[in-house]
Amino acid sequence: MLISELLKKKREGYSLTGEEIRYFIRGLINNYVSDIQAAAFLTSACIHGLNRSETAAMTFAMRDSGIKFDFSDIKLPKIDKHSTGGVGDKISLLLVPICMSAGIAVPMISGRGLGHTGGTVDKLESITGFNMQLDYDECRKLLLQNNAFMTSQTPQIAPADGILYHIRDITGNVESVGLITASIMSKKLVEDLDGLVIDMKTGNGAFMQDIAEAKQLAESMLAVASDIGLKMRIIFSSMEQPLGNAIGNWLEIEETIESLKGNIHPDVEELTLKLADSMVLASGINDDIEDIHARNKEILRSGQAYKNFLKMVESQGGNLEISRNNFLNTPKFEIKSDVDGYVSQVDTINVGIVGIMLGAGRQNVYDKIDYAAGIELRKKIGDKVAKDETIAVLYASDSTKFADAAELLKYSIVIKENDEILIPKLIIDDWYN
Ligand code: URA
Repeated sequence: MLISELLKKKREGYSLTGEEIRYFIRGLINNYVSDIQAAAFLTSACIHGLNRSETAAMTFAMRDSGIKFDFSDIKLPKIDKHSTGGVGDKISLLLVPICMSAGIAVPMISGRGLGHTGGTVDKLESITGFNMQLDYDECRKLLLQNNAFMTSQTPQIAPADGILYHIRDITGNVESVGLITASIMSKKLVEDLDGLVIDMKTGNGAFMQDIAEAKQLAESMLAVASDIGLKMRIIFSSMEQPLGNAIGNWLEIEETIESLKGNIHPDVEELTLKLADSMVLASGINDDIEDIHARNKEILRSGQAYKNFLKMVESQGGNLEISRNNFLNTPKFEIKSDVDGYVSQVDTINVGIVGIMLGAGRQNVYDKIDYAAGIELRKKIGDKVAKDETIAVLYASDSTKFADAAELLKYSIVIKENDEILIPKLIIDDWYN
């Protein structure tokens, strides 16, 4: 089989066979498919889409590009959650510590920043020493000891996703139902799960901006789950504005710590608990949703989740004190309102792009992330703003980045004179198989 012929076939809009897709994915791992060829494939896949059988073939080939966990000796039901990508989305960082005390085990393989969205891996790597490259034995040990681990996709775990993820990120080939399905599901199917919860983002900061597209992605993921009999719940949530106040890796760790200590933004709490409740529900250990909710809320509000977070950080080698000292003197830049009024709209993709401009994400393969960089959004949709009041604070180690970033951020926060504002509903829908 010639890779160039396969690429031409996809570019001309024809569907590939399962054998062709498996050959292509094997080629990524065995170095007979170059990054340039991968980029050509991804562009054609984005333009023409992948049909149901191409998506399934790609998902399973990517899963099989590395090892598969066997956690059959772990007694607790193994449930994970994955987001389709958001801005200020630190939910996993609160969710996992809640689940550590909720009677389930969470073997979480997370992603890095993708497109304008942030990634849990980058956020946790802003903690000095935090090991996100766990091997199989370390994953098992942590799952037994803490009921959870958080790791990255590694050269052993779904390596084909690692290669394609990076290339999609820097070639603008992210927004594709088939590619997102294969990327997320290939990682999750490595984890030997009993159930999976997806946070399906929709709205102006999501890859699937309108609800119809998000439903298409949900159907595609449910189809793969049904192929292998995986229990799945899909929570549709709004990305019409960033979650909470912080956007950027270390800033989001700080917001997580504050939230776990009780100073939590209502939207962060609502979505965290909704997803935690859905994970417990998917596990089958309790089917009384009100009871599940009350228990999860208690774990969060009593400070137990905070203790669990600290335990997880310590177990994975992280040192919050060193990180805190490292980021103490990060240069800041305040953005003030020119008018009196109310925040009526936030261009959430632009907020994510501002984060990348400041250094919180990558613009190219070899870019190093500035973990200190990001945005503190002081005002959210519906909030009253006075002229000259600070609406956001920018952070970056390199202060020459502030001018352009400030200009784009200011343009992205719309302030209206009157208070007739439509506040977007955070939780939109809930599907399950
Ligand atoms: N998260 C992933 O892991 N992959 C995607 O394609 C989007 C979000």
